[in-house]
Amino acid sequence: MAGPIRQVCGRWSRVRGWRRVTDAVHAASGRIIAQLWHTGAISHPELLDGAQPVSASNVDPDQISVTQTGRKPTVAPRPLTKQEIEVTVADFARAARNAMEAGFDGVQILANYLYLISQFLNANTNLRQDEYGGSLENRSRFLFEVVESVLGEVDAQRVGFKISPMHEGGAFQANNETLPVTEYAIRKLSTYNLSHLLLMGNTTDFSGTPLEKLADDGMFRHFRPLYKGTLIANVKMDRDRGNRLIAEGFADLVAFGRPYIANPDLVERFAEDDAPLAEVDWETVYGSGERGYSDYPAYQLSQLTRS
Ligand SMILES: Cc1cc2nc3c(=O)[nH]c(=O)nc-3n(C[C@H](O)[C@H](O)[C@H](O)COP(=O)(O)O)c2cc1C
Repeated sequence: MAGPIRQVCGRWSRVRGWRRVTDAVHAASGRIIAQLWHTGAISHPELLDGAQPVSASNVDPDQISVTQTGRKPTVAPRPLTKQEIEVTVADFARAARNAMEAGFDGVQILANYLYLISQFLNANTNLRQDEYGGSLENRSRFLFEVVESVLGEVDAQRVGFKISPMHEGGAFQANNETLPVTEYAIRKLSTYNLSHLLLMGNTTDFSGTPLEKLADDGMFRHFRPLYKGTLIANVKMDRDRGNRLIAEGFADLVAFGRPYIANPDLVERFAEDDAPLAEVDWETVYGSGERGYSDYPAYQLSQLTRS
């Protein structure tokens, strides 16, 4: 009994802990959503008490895993059994329910980067012979089972999605299946009346890859006609590019990552035409210590500090 009781206590204390965060955000008139993801093969035995990470198949994605003792190369994962897939799909729903109980305004399912959903979508990392591998439909099956299980817990208008075709290293180099599977997924996601699709532009050089035409604004031009709901454009946005993409009809909203980490007063800086933007301090990101994220000064403050 000790195990389940500990798990239940852990769940409640985590839900209560996040409630303090969501309450603080709401008290400041903000909105906050929780992102749901499973690292799959990007995890590492060191993070799993020595256990092998799981994935669609036993293909080492050839990436770097961030462990407590530093950055380590990934290892070959163990393929999930069908029963484990069912449990994992149910875990996404449970995570969504916990997030809503913790006071989040919604959830976002992460289907890009190199994580588990991408490992199912990617023909290089998914060699399964069952109904979860092979065709576009089969490689997308896990993703849509996750969507439907989350929708069993949370209203569609509070569920968003982050996805994009990528060209990364190792098993995640773009291949001839990368664009078709993302097109298939985004077209189908368009039928669920979700809160949003957050589409990442290219973070690497697409030249000479099957994604070449999606470089820069090409990503948003290509996918806008395929998705009828709210489309949020991301990656290397600035005020003028964001305004232009919205005016041209290629995005409904724009998301900022790095600029918002380094500039807590980003909106005010945009409003002031000549305010420079601060850069992220890379020494302080990815759980490297207590400094960073919440201690970047506002613009006027940094001016005062300097004088
Ligand atoms: C330190 C750091 C941590 C990030 N963590 C996440 C994450 O947990 N989930 C996610 O979807 N994106 C994450 N991102 C990516 C950002 O959300 C965003 O997509 C990316 O930085 C591109 O946007 P930008 O050009 O405005 O920075 C992270 C980025 C940085 C710099």
